[in-house]
Amino acid sequence: MESLRERVLQRRSEPKNSVHLDPARTPRHVAIIMDGNGRWAQRRWLPRAAGHRAGVAVLTPILETAGEAGVKAVTLYAFSTENWVRPEEEVHTLMELFLQTAKGKVPELHERGARLRFLGRRERLPEPVCEAIQHAEELTKNNDKLDVYVALNYGGRSEIVDATRRMISDGLSPEEVDETTFARYLYAPEAPEVDLVIRTSGELRVSNFLLWQIAYAEFYVTDTLWPDFSSEEFLRAIEWFGSRSRRWGGV
Ligand code: FPP
Repeated sequence: MESLRERVLQRRSEPKNSVHLDPARTPRHVAIIMDGNGRWAQRRWLPRAAGHRAGVAVLTPILETAGEAGVKAVTLYAFSTENWVRPEEEVHTLMELFLQTAKGKVPELHERGARLRFLGRRERLPEPVCEAIQHAEELTKNNDKLDVYVALNYGGRSEIVDATRRMISDGLSPEEVDETTFARYLYAPEAPEVDLVIRTSGELRVSNFLLWQIAYAEFYVTDTLWPDFSSEEFLRAIEWFGSRSRRWGGV
């Protein structure tokens, strides 16, 4: 029998063939920790910035494949609240890269029907980055093919703190705070539950990513460094997810 990977890859070369996937076995929301850009560059005697640039090049094929495979939402971990401690030059390069990526890729993603949302604290981001975020969110807000969440100056703990602060400032009583209410105060309350987390570069860590949302997620960790991560491997992760038996705490 043809595998999901073969079907999607075949469809990409022959767009007229449609793929019929079992929605029950396809993750609705995939969250990705794009790790290993620095090591990818080091192995080639290149500056770390070259690794980040190579990491950006991977985004379009992965998002396209996600949409074709029936995934409804993808969250990308682009910059954490802890990443500010990196050398100033690298932080600056990353911010410039976010800006360039927004300019270069947002129109393309918009054409393909992606809705972009940014998760994280905006206050520390440079003004041009905030403007690009606002523009991207506004431009794509009515799209419905794929939701793309970009976690930028994002921390799972900050998100929980921010949700708590907003519940307090809304005057909620302790009795009103339960899991359903809490989830409504997260950065993207409309996003479906995260089903699958993919982490590249082999590290077995959560790194402060979506701490609330990954409660029942499956974890796919690969040694592949992010710039080498391919559509084919993405589909392998989706297939692997389909083989998992999810019990949600039951038997
Ligand atoms: C981790 O690799 C990667 C990052 C901190 C940045 C990720 C950013 C991109 C792929 C580019 C922009 C993305 C968007 C969505 C605009 P690392 O530097 O920690 O690698 P290392 O662990 O090998 O040093």
